[in-house]
Amino acid sequence: MSDAFFAPATAGLQGSVTAPADKSISHRAALFGAMSSGTARIVNYLHAQDTTSTLDAIRVLGARVRLEGDDVVVEGVGLRGAGDGAMIDVGNAGTLMRLLPGWLAAQEGSTFQLDGDASIRRRPVDRIAQPLRRMGGVIEATDGRYPPFLVRGRALRAISYVLPVASAQVKSCVLIAGMCADATTTVTEPAPSRDHTERMLAGAGVRIARDGLDVSLQPVDSLHAQHIVVPGDLSSAAFMIAAAVLVAGSRVTVRDVGVNWTRTGFLRILERMGAAVQGELEAVPGTGAAVASAEPICDLAVAAGPLRGTAVAAEEVPLAIDELPLVALLGCFAEGETVVRGAQELRVKESDRIAGVVDGLRGLGAEIEATDDGFVVSGAGCRGLRGGTIDAAGDHRMAMLGAVAGLASHEGVQVVGIDAAAVSYPGFQQDLARLRGRA
Ligand code: S3P
Repeated sequence: MSDAFFAPATAGLQGSVTAPADKSISHRAALFGAMSSGTARIVNYLHAQDTTSTLDAIRVLGARVRLEGDDVVVEGVGLRGAGDGAMIDVGNAGTLMRLLPGWLAAQEGSTFQLDGDASIRRRPVDRIAQPLRRMGGVIEATDGRYPPFLVRGRALRAISYVLPVASAQVKSCVLIAGMCADATTTVTEPAPSRDHTERMLAGAGVRIARDGLDVSLQPVDSLHAQHIVVPGDLSSAAFMIAAAVLVAGSRVTVRDVGVNWTRTGFLRILERMGAAVQGELEAVPGTGAAVASAEPICDLAVAAGPLRGTAVAAEEVPLAIDELPLVALLGCFAEGETVVRGAQELRVKESDRIAGVVDGLRGLGAEIEATDDGFVVSGAGCRGLRGGTIDAAGDHRMAMLGAVAGLASHEGVQVVGIDAAAVSYPGFQQDLARLRGRA
């Protein structure tokens, strides 16, 4: 584990960086490539710890994976061809742990074991076990709800499932299982969450439709192998965007960012806080629309400016879930109060991100209180944040949060465990240094 000190920026950040490839879309592209009948090509795959775990997992299941230049080429094993008896190490990747069982539960007569690192062993899998059991799959988890766990494949029946929490991971798991079920599967979300699975399955030839909060798909015999170009990850770009908003005099462009409406909640929150982020974002989708397969991409231009506090409501949470720690940080520099509610999901991320954000930012001098389902920040406005030390506790987004806080603070921030950033953003420190004119 390594530590790093992020000194206060003495001048505005300038220039441009290219956002690293989207983690959610990379996981899905590799998994659907493995499920397909044919050879899939993934351009701009994210080469980071989490998504390397996914390539390792599909190899263990029988897919052939090779690198051609920067592209990942996957020869699939077919929708019902995952290799029996595989032991899968998901590492730190919650998305892999929650999506893959949807496929494995449909491999009749086969058994699989899934496990991961210490953080994964604290993350519940009962949220996927419940719907998969209703479909006929068998999931045997530690203490009824944690990894390591076994998935025993069965013939699956279709269900209509009302998600108890707005989770794209759980939605995706049920939809993946639904491809192998006996009739139409429907998932109803409490509020829209990221829809990369729906888009990619539409592109692979699955009949999938959205009607308000319902997503329905028909079973299929096979998936078409696709040519997928992965956009930049808004959740990674968000750290550069927040740094540019907070450091006076900054003007930064983040290139090639995926701006699917279900991912841009953070930009809408920022706009309410008064920040200037410009780009051609995807418009809010209409209801009852056929699912489009394309993922929109654009450059985002950001400039520093004063912020005002805002309230983030429960229905906005799934659209900005991974950026909420940054909303807390931005709230420290805003005039007035910033409140996040309905975000209890943050407690079961790579770390308890409500406790981590509140304790971490308080240690840097912030006035912030935890609630059961979020936090309340009393903004210091132009008085800013003192600085100090923050422990990433193995969580990539906490590590990057600490770094951005350091640049914007008076005394700088020592981040304990900065190497965790490599889970999603291996070039994070270099990109930040480039914007500071130090690389
Ligand atoms: C993800 C969905 C979100 C998000 C995670 C990636 C995905 O999790 O926090 O980083 O790729 O589907 P939940 O669906 O559990 O909210």
